[in-house]
Amino acid sequence: MTVVSLIEKLSKDHKLSAQEFEFLLTHQSSENAMLLAKAADQVRREIYGNQVYFRGLIEISNFCKCDCLYCGLRRSNHNCDRYRMSEAEILQCCESGYQLGFRTFVLQGGEDAFFTDAVMCDLIRKIKHNYPDCAITLSLGERSKESYQMLFEAGADRYLLRHETANPAHYARLHPSNQLFDNRMAYLNTLKQIGFAVGCGFMVGSPYQTTADLVRDLLFIQEYQPDMCGIGPFIPQKDTPFADFPAGSIDLTCYLLSILRLMMPNLLLPATTALGTLRQNGRELGLCSGANVIMPNISPPANRKKYIIYDGKHSDRAETAEGLEELKKRVAAIGYQIVTDRGDKKI
Ligand code: 5AD
Repeated sequence: MTVVSLIEKLSKDHKLSAQEFEFLLTHQSSENAMLLAKAADQVRREIYGNQVYFRGLIEISNFCKCDCLYCGLRRSNHNCDRYRMSEAEILQCCESGYQLGFRTFVLQGGEDAFFTDAVMCDLIRKIKHNYPDCAITLSLGERSKESYQMLFEAGADRYLLRHETANPAHYARLHPSNQLFDNRMAYLNTLKQIGFAVGCGFMVGSPYQTTADLVRDLLFIQEYQPDMCGIGPFIPQKDTPFADFPAGSIDLTCYLLSILRLMMPNLLLPATTALGTLRQNGRELGLCSGANVIMPNISPPANRKKYIIYDGKHSDRAETAEGLEELKKRVAAIGYQIVTDRGDKKI
């Protein structure tokens, strides 16, 4: 077994065995990373050309009933200054986002009981009415099957729910005992059945994560076949139980992005904010490794300061025309082009 032969196999069959993934992950070197990134970029260009899709991320609430040990929005964090956007504020964000060229709005928030099915469905219908050419992505955590169904029928197109880790024992170390791995997996299946384009994902370098865990993540993704996959390095947040754990690695994140691209050539793969937070050009590295999506935050800056999932969170100022222009230039400088498009998965 060699990394070169595995890259060839992955490019051809789009799948590997546990042993083969493990070999790839344990032979991470800058040379092998370059080979993988080159192959991934080629595959991505065959399908998406040099296009990068951008999504307007609106962080609608930082109230959360969950207590994930890694997340700054966890309910036990009393230092988190809570806010929730009004419907008018959210619609205003969509309006200015639309003017700037965004054609997907990602409504993301903690698990906040204020956003009932009635409130969300109303909001989704209004956004769809105003912008029928736009896609709506939801990222609101775990809800009932009935709720997901209603949100879908109201017009939501996509749903992001990271699986966080495909190893149940690891999941249990990252979450309190009332947050269950089996529920998370069941919800991911439900979302797919309902008809959403679904995104799963995980943190790279989360506390206690082993190479075997990452192999399980890759095998899970290979089997689940998501439409999107969000991966980014773990970054400690000072008010959480994981404050003293080290951040995940940018290089390993990029290595995994390349593997994911080869595994699923048409996957919508974001270069995440967490990558851009750890290093100034982190997201550019992600794009060069196979990512094809960027999700700039278009929430009001005052709220953004409070949405502290992890410390030092990067912001592009992409809610302003100047900030967005700057981002477009940065992406153009590495040979890609941000395009105004819903950015659906190409089949
Ligand atoms: N570092 C990096 N990513 C994090 N997330 C939550 N906390 C952190 C952190 N400290 C990710 C999780 C979650 C999403 C909202 O953000 O994967 O699903």
